[in-house]
Amino acid sequence: MAIYLRRCQGPWLFHILLFYILLNKSRAINPDGEALLNFRNAIVSSDGILPLWRPEDPDPCNWRGVTCDQKTKRVIYVSLKNHKLSGPISPDIGKIEHLKILALYNNNFYGTIPSELGNCTELQGIYLQGNYLSGLIPGELGNLSELQYLDISSNSLSGSIPSSIGKLNKLITFNVSNNFLVGPIPSDGVLINFTESSFAGNRGLCGRQINMNCKDESGGPSTNSQSPQSAQNQGGKKKYSGRLFISASATIGALLLVALMCFWGCFLYKKFGKSESDGIAMDVSGGASIVMFHGDLPYSSKDIIKKLENLNEEHIIGCGGFGKVYKLAMDDGNVFALKRILRMNEGFDRFFERELEILGSIKHRYLVNLRGYCNSTTSKLLIYDFLAGGSLDEALHERSEQLDWDARLNIIMGAAKGLAYLHHDCSPRIIHRDIKSSNILLDANLEARVSDFGLAKLLEDEESHITTTVAGTFGYLAPEYMQSGRATEKTDVYSFGVLVLEVLSGKRPTDASFIEKGLNIVGWLNFLGTENRQRDIVDPNCEGVQIESLDALLSIATQCVSSSPEDRPTMHRVVQLLESEVMTPCPSDFYDSSGDNDTC
Ligand SMILES: Nc1ncnc2c1ncn2[C@@H]1O[C@H](COP(=O)(O)OP(=O)(O)OP(=O)(O)O)[C@@H](O)[C@H]1O
Ligand SMILES: *[C@@H]1O[C@H](CO)[C@@H](O)[C@H](O)[C@H]1NC(C)=O
Ligand SMILES: *[C@@H]1O[C@H](CO)[C@@H](O)[C@H](O)[C@H]1NC(C)=O
Ligand SMILES: *[C@@H]1O[C@H](CO)[C@@H](O)[C@H](O)[C@H]1NC(C)=O
Ligand SMILES: *[C@@H]1O[C@H](CO)[C@@H](O)[C@H](O)[C@H]1NC(C)=O
Ligand SMILES: [Mg+2]
Repeated sequence: MAIYLRRCQGPWLFHILLFYILLNKSRAINPDGEALLNFRNAIVSSDGILPLWRPEDPDPCNWRGVTCDQKTKRVIYVSLKNHKLSGPISPDIGKIEHLKILALYNNNFYGTIPSELGNCTELQGIYLQGNYLSGLIPGELGNLSELQYLDISSNSLSGSIPSSIGKLNKLITFNVSNNFLVGPIPSDGVLINFTESSFAGNRGLCGRQINMNCKDESGGPSTNSQSPQSAQNQGGKKKYSGRLFISASATIGALLLVALMCFWGCFLYKKFGKSESDGIAMDVSGGASIVMFHGDLPYSSKDIIKKLENLNEEHIIGCGGFGKVYKLAMDDGNVFALKRILRMNEGFDRFFERELEILGSIKHRYLVNLRGYCNSTTSKLLIYDFLAGGSLDEALHERSEQLDWDARLNIIMGAAKGLAYLHHDCSPRIIHRDIKSSNILLDANLEARVSDFGLAKLLEDEESHITTTVAGTFGYLAPEYMQSGRATEKTDVYSFGVLVLEVLSGKRPTDASFIEKGLNIVGWLNFLGTENRQRDIVDPNCEGVQIESLDALLSIATQCVSSSPEDRPTMHRVVQLLESEVMTPCPSDFYDSSGDNDTC
């Protein structure tokens, strides 16, 4: 449990933001298909159904879960229940003009119900029950005059029921039970005829339907209580102090939800026992083979498989965009990290294996060693060296003890050398594509190693045959990469520059304090530059900052994140600069008799 909590404070935002952007270039799919692809791209994980939605199809009519009108080829039903879909519901769903039924129930959707659904005026049924949706019920749903079925029960919705819902004259089923709704149930309109079972499990609702008087002089107060404001205002008045408590508990509910979302990847499946948690034991039970590189694993396949069979959720040490990571301890005391990647596609096995072979052949002091993998019908289990220091992301953002200046410089140096090796000394050259702090791992001595090189490429190809997709994590992506989808060494250099800024500032590239100002970390650096106070970016909790090396590092980082790729140095050059400008003595240190001079 401690592990989940530790992860929880972690980069969940990145997991939400981790997405593949499909480019609109030369795609001939119809507008409904386009909207559905955008819907798909907002989803961060699924049971594997969505990769089967092929962008190169002319229309989405044969996609799983999608039904079209035979004649017009326009989408009329979208039915994706029980598919472990996790992520927000894209507002683009509102562009499917002729949608009649939207059934997304029993998934892990979070975020709000998009008000754009109000644009789908032909909707007859909305089934969103059994998700983690939060926020208000959009008043726009009241525009859906054809709506007969509306089930949004068992979510985390807050605020009050919009009065516009009362206008839905055709409503047959209505269910908002088990949410955090407050306020009076609209009494003028269809809702008057629904019974308690439609409203149960919301401790803040009142109205005739649930035999709960609304304590208000005017009787049926503010039936137009659509806005959060009105719910809050009511709570603010003295006589509604009871409700204040309830809206506070709704807030706590929302906070809990956020906490819950943090470990959706690892925890929800475990908690609710969905079948994926059969996990590794299942993977290897139906026959599996172990591939080892260079005798890197001094065990028999049988020994390894036996160990794998015993791995379960307790051994999870982290989870990322590709899947979960387990700790694999062998009997001789050696420990490995096992990354589980669910198999998505039949045809790519041979390609995948060839690429893994290449990745396995790359050995370097500053790279995480891939020792082998296990091949099963359901997944690939990649066996890496285990790094006891965890990820740089954790070290910077989740631990209470702070990295000091020398440790930070050393980590930047190691990451630069690892990346320079991939770019300049490997054959074929390797573009990492996903440089970020969670992919820089630390050993017990806080030496950095770059991990997950080549994986982004591999999985991108696995996911979709042809389209150019952008792999990588929001906040670290070079502008031209987001536009063209073409990764180069220089897009990695940009991400490395962002990483340096993250290490210097102790803040994630998309930290709320930047976003509030409409910036990211690079925008912030540029802003500070205009006022000639770049040094202010440095983490106030970092001890031992040396001004000379800070200035040199800022200058390197600034070059790395410059918007035109030609202005960025190569990683080779970055390593040279780091060695000559940052790690070498600064004149003032010679006159400083602190005994630290051996670093000079
Ligand atoms: N070899 C390893 N040794 C120790 N811990 C590891 C190892 N590999 C991964 N981890 C842990 O597991 C976590 C998840 O790793 P993973 O690579 O799956 O996700 P990520 O790096 O956050 O995102 P991405 O999927 O984009 O790489 C890491 O943050 C780290 O804490
Ligand atoms: C919904 O309709 C409004 C008004 O017609 C329009 O401005 C908006 O762009 C539409 N949204 C979507 C997602 O289609
Ligand atoms: C949809 O509903 C919103 C809010 O309830 C309203 O402001 C808007 O005018 C409605 N749009 C249409 C097209 O009815
Ligand atoms: C509620 O039910 C009563 C009795 O069945 C009916 O007369 C009335 O029209 C209904 N009200 C609404 C708003 O549907
Ligand atoms: C509403 O949903 C709950 C489950 O969330 C269910 O128990 C209840 O029977 C439903 N009520 C109606 C009227 O469908
Ligand atoms: Mg990683």
